[in-house]
Amino acid sequence: MDVPADILELARGARRVTVLTGAGASAESGIPTFRDAQTGLWTNLRPEDLATPEAWYRDPPRVWAWYAWRTRIAATCVPHAGHRAIAEWGRRDGVTMKVVTQNVDDLHERGGSEDVAHVHGSLFRHKCDVCNAQYRGVLDLPVEQVERLEPPDCEQCGMGRIRPDIVWFGEALDERVFGAAIEAVEGADLLVVVGTSGIVYPAAGLPGVARAQGIPVIEINPHGSDLFDQLDHAWEVAAGKGLPAIVAALDD
Ligand code: OAD
Repeated sequence: MDVPADILELARGARRVTVLTGAGASAESGIPTFRDAQTGLWTNLRPEDLATPEAWYRDPPRVWAWYAWRTRIAATCVPHAGHRAIAEWGRRDGVTMKVVTQNVDDLHERGGSEDVAHVHGSLFRHKCDVCNAQYRGVLDLPVEQVERLEPPDCEQCGMGRIRPDIVWFGEALDERVFGAAIEAVEGADLLVVVGTSGIVYPAAGLPGVARAQGIPVIEINPHGSDLFDQLDHAWEVAAGKGLPAIVAALDD
């Protein structure tokens, strides 16, 4: 597959690459994006109806069951060629690679990337909804979708319940993690934006941070995004095709 010349030139010249990913970066591994239809038990629900503190406090077992299902899907999916290409790019001599992801799966890590900032949290971390203590216990993930599942109680404070350590709608991002994301963008000489619709802030503001510093921004997205006016170059291609093509062409 031929990489557009402008994109290839930027990729070849870059030494400090930061990749910003969204749900589209995981789509080819089998994790549905946010704007895709939900399946099974959750067909009629939008993530916005479940991924909120209000939904949690109204009915914790319902939200816990939805996350248990999403965690099972994420755990059984495997990284695709795009995840592996990002890691391979980062292993090249003289290249520093940082990944900033809005995704709560661990496909970048399992694909070999080492420096990954999860600005929206992780499906694989859990914390108390009262004292914030991290939960270290083992989770029981049902094999089939269930409508409700009782979350564990917090053994630290004895008052709270264990919830996903994920940033829900209406919640603030972890300042330390988002600070690291801004640093990763400001310290880059190329920002590659992959598979995000660019509508959820503050993550969607990161390409603008790069632009303000004169750092070139390229996008890999088969359908384009709301970020179109903040990009130097957009390539309408799937992550699993475009990223390996770029990395393969670096030496040509
Ligand atoms: P979205 O579901 O909004 O957007 C997915 C994007 O991926 C779209 O622009 C698609 O065109 C693109 N896409 C689809 N298939 C692709 C592929 N194979 N390769 C590359 N791109 C592809 O997901 P996000 O932008 O990640 O927040 O959503 C941002 C945030 O909104 C999420 O992190 C989540 C959500 O609500 C929280 O949970 C806080």
